[in-house]
Amino acid sequence: MSAQVQSTRKTVKDIAAAKGGTPLVCLTAYTAPMAELLDSRCDLLLVGDSVGMVVHGLPTTVGVTMDMMILHGQAVMRTSKKAFVVVDMPFGSYEASVEQAFHNAARIMKETGCQAVKIEAGEYAAATVRHLVDRGIPVMAHVGLRPQATNVDGGFKAKGRTDAERKRVIAEARAADGAGCFAMVIEGVAEDLARDITAAVSCPTVGIGASSACDGQILVTDDLLGMFDWTPKFVRRYADLKDVVGKAVDGYAADVRARRFPGEKETYALKKQP
Ligand code: KIV
Repeated sequence: MSAQVQSTRKTVKDIAAAKGGTPLVCLTAYTAPMAELLDSRCDLLLVGDSVGMVVHGLPTTVGVTMDMMILHGQAVMRTSKKAFVVVDMPFGSYEASVEQAFHNAARIMKETGCQAVKIEAGEYAAATVRHLVDRGIPVMAHVGLRPQATNVDGGFKAKGRTDAERKRVIAEARAADGAGCFAMVIEGVAEDLARDITAAVSCPTVGIGASSACDGQILVTDDLLGMFDWTPKFVRRYADLKDVVGKAVDGYAADVRARRFPGEKETYALKKQP
């Protein structure tokens, strides 16, 4: 007899149902303790390939590997219980063919237990979205500024500044939506374009640097917490953790050097033998 495991997690249907409703609260998570902290406070946790830049110190997301995504996906799945968890497919893991995309997406799903994958979707990627969804893999698309295309774009540049670019981004969004993605990230576009995309697609849109005209918002958690000196225009810092951590470590270092740490309270004492 098989035991039925009840999951309390949000499902793809819960996320899709947010279209036009209360905005979806989404954040990145890469580690078990952070996932535990964010889990009950967010609808969706993204194990983003931004992990390469935020945690591993890479200059862009291009160097991120499948093994990195799987390791961080496993960590996030171990401590999250409620949020819907999406893992990014890294650069080079899905573009060559739909078969390559299925092989790697299935590996991510099996080895992490996450509920969906995300791909950066140029118009060509609609076939990939369809191929994965038809085979049981929910896909979140990512349109507008696509960080994995930074080498083609010559940097992290907002999208939709020209008419041609606007049309291309809307076409990408429509193509991914028509191919069955359950939600899409819109990154780095002006408010009117985000509004047009949100109106044009049936799935919920999740904005980052894409105004409030989306069905939800996502930020890199470390940006929101103020872990870096530089804050992009679209980020609101809700804390200044870099300062907090710096001051804490300065205090520790001063205490160690002055032999104030460890003190009596932090030191084991041998129990006196009777
Ligand atoms: O990798 C990531 O963190 C992302 C978000 C910026 C949406 O894709």
